[in-house]
Amino acid sequence: MEVRATDIYVATFPRSGTTWTQEMVWLLLNDLDYAKAASLNLVDRYINVGISIWGLASRAKGAKILKFKEEDKRKYKQIITPGCELLAAASDPRFIKTHLPMCMLPPNLIETAKIVYVARDPRDVVVSLYHFYRLMPVPQFTGDFKTFWNMFVRDNVIRTPYFAHIKEAWELRNHPNMLFLFYEELKNDLSNTIKRTAKFFNKEYTDEQISVLCNHLNINNFRHNDSVSLNFLADVFIPGEEPFIRKGKVGGWRDYFDDEMTVECEQWMAKKLKETGIQFPVFSN
Ligand code: A3P
Repeated sequence: MEVRATDIYVATFPRSGTTWTQEMVWLLLNDLDYAKAASLNLVDRYINVGISIWGLASRAKGAKILKFKEEDKRKYKQIITPGCELLAAASDPRFIKTHLPMCMLPPNLIETAKIVYVARDPRDVVVSLYHFYRLMPVPQFTGDFKTFWNMFVRDNVIRTPYFAHIKEAWELRNHPNMLFLFYEELKNDLSNTIKRTAKFFNKEYTDEQISVLCNHLNINNFRHNDSVSLNFLADVFIPGEEPFIRKGKVGGWRDYFDDEMTVECEQWMAKKLKETGIQFPVFSN
């Protein structure tokens, strides 16, 4: 697929704050046009490169998500149509979301376009992913959390391995075209993270404008924002599961991990962090 100098990528391992970051980036680059953001669903503002993996997987299993009614085809455009086709047809600047790791993206990407990568503590990621995979018709996970954790840590969950994904972006964190953020940073100081992101894109906003944006991005408003919440997919989501925009907490994993999982995870993280050199930010509050 072709990379253009005007492309803007938001790349993450799933459930790391992609949607939140997409909305922030899009608004910063569109003169904070909240009316336009409200009128255009985020899935139509970004091309999701790599989502056709879902389409292929679900097609193979004959899952209901791909039995589209004619009137629903627009809604599922991103699943039906390969990302490269959507990209070729899009005008500049193209906003691109991807969960693919850097090694599966074009090699000239980092030298050509701008990338915002977001990483999140894997313990909160695995809990969030567990709920998400229970919510989605594919893979429609039905087991308990411990089973999911055991699969995740052994790289048997779709989109894993987690650390290899982060490592590839982490190694590029000092490249001028890469802005490497942590979910925990956004939670800890959204205003400052917005300022860093604006600077990365050579944009300037007043403190008051940033304060309005913080409010817009606050999860309590965000979860009621139909343009980002994926509520339009309610008819395909598995009923009774927690919504797409869920808790939005740091450290929520503590309610899910028993002692055995906690120890296993500590050892796994210590080993992987040492191997990769990744350093998660530590906040005092
Ligand atoms: P939880 O499931 O832990 O609540 P992604 O967009 O990459 O799929 O990430 C989803 C995670 O980001 C979910 O985490 C979701 O609740 C959280 N999230 C979404 N919007 C958020 C916001 N405005 N503030 C904080 N967290 C948010």
